[in-house]
Amino acid sequence: MVRLIGLEKEHLNDLLRWRNDPEVRRWIFQKWPLSLSEQERWFNSYLGNDLYKVLIVYHEKDQRNIGYIRLANIAYQNRSLQIGGDIGEKEYRGKGLGKVMYQKALELVFDELNMNRVYLHVFKDNESV
Ligand SMILES: CC(C)(COP(=O)(O)OP(=O)(O)OC[C@H]1O[C@@H](n2cnc3c(N)ncnc32)[C@H](O)[C@@H]1OP(=O)(O)O)[C@@H](O)C(=O)NCCC(=O)NCCS
Repeated sequence: MVRLIGLEKEHLNDLLRWRNDPEVRRWIFQKWPLSLSEQERWFNSYLGNDLYKVLIVYHEKDQRNIGYIRLANIAYQNRSLQIGGDIGEKEYRGKGLGKVMYQKALELVFDELNMNRVYLHVFKDNESV
């Protein structure tokens, strides 16, 4: 149904559009609209950072990218990390895909990265999380 793939430079335009969507921005901590230059600068520093990973959510049937998962503060010794992620493409929200993408991410985090604690920051009135 959905697959998680590594972030590439070619995904930056989608990522920028998703993160600038007011319906997404309302629920994340980025309050200002991002520019492409900022996104590219972030991507360049991201490439050398082992403590932060972004995975793109690829919809297999429709063959398109619909969102992303973010793994931050990856602490390999303490075996903990912070998870986040949004369905960027509006028409794919509310169809169970958010649940599936988080399940896939959690399988990766617990089974492959061998973490034992995962946390997520969320605004208390965000009912879909
Ligand atoms: C939050 C988000 C990832 C959830 O993904 P989704 O595909 O829309 O949600 P799902 O269809 O998988 O539903 C997950 C659960 O939330 C519930 N839900 C979905 N949309 C809802 C809404 N608008 N209000 C209340 N509950 C909602 C579903 O009933 C389901 O509950 P269940 O597990 O008890 O059945 C997605 O909506 C999104 O990216 N929203 C915009 C940004 C955002 O809120 N990001 C999260 C920041 S922490």
